[in-house]
Amino acid sequence: MTSPTPPAGLDGWLRRYVTQTTTAVGLVVGVSGGLLFFDLAKRQVHSMHEWLGMAFLAIAVLHVVRHRGSFAAMLRQPRQHVLLALTGFAMLAFVGASFTAPAGGGNPVHQLADRALDAPLVALAPVLGLGPDEAQRRLAAAGVAVDSPAQSLATLAATNHTDPRRLLGVVLGGRRD
Ligand code: HEM
Ligand code: HEM
Repeated sequence: MTSPTPPAGLDGWLRRYVTQTTTAVGLVVGVSGGLLFFDLAKRQVHSMHEWLGMAFLAIAVLHVVRHRGSFAAMLRQPRQHVLLALTGFAMLAFVGASFTAPAGGGNPVHQLADRALDAPLVALAPVLGLGPDEAQRRLAAAGVAVDSPAQSLATLAATNHTDPRRLLGVVLGGRRD
């Protein structure tokens, strides 16, 4: 590159690295977000997308700091106000629609998971292909005391101060952590 030598200090550091890192991280987050949208390679990219997404937010803040002068000027442009208003309306339309959506909408897999967490252990175990006592045994092995097979993972999680999804993991895989 033939750009002039950046100044020393924080501004120089911002100029040398921040737009470059924003570009690199933004590319990966953008491509992985596109894959997730089309339900491709979800298992492989989901957690990477989440964490690099958080890194992207942090680096994007520095990117704005690096371009703070032109960013502030841009915020004063009337066309920026129109675009902010249009984006705000789009956001409100989606958020508003979520309030009026009929109950039971949304991802059916998430609904199934919620119902599984609320079901009594005695009903959940056969769905998971486990014998009557096996779910209870796995929970006990992980240090979760079950008073009655009528208890649900959600109730057990509340009384044991843990996450019900962790308990579902224990029951599914017999994990002890
Ligand atoms: C994948 C994401 C992004 C990429 C690849 C990217 C890339 C770039 C590049 C290459 C420049 C020109 C740098 C220069 O002239 O030295 C730039 C400028 C700028 N970017 Fe980004 N950027 C991204 C995200 C963002 C975000 C999220 C914001 C604001 C929230 C932002 C705000 C700005 C501003 C204000 C400028 C200065 C524009 C100017 O001086 O005219 N960028 N960006
Ligand atoms: C180029 C920008 C981005 C695109 C196209 C994109 C797209 C997507 C898509 C399609 C999903 C899948 C949702 C699903 O599970 O059905 C997703 C999930 C997610 N994205 Fe992004 N994303 C982008 C940027 C970001 C950023 C900057 C963050 C910041 C943290 C982020 C955080 C997340 C998280 C936490 C999830 C997981 C949500 C869940 O557990 O279901 N994404 N993204």
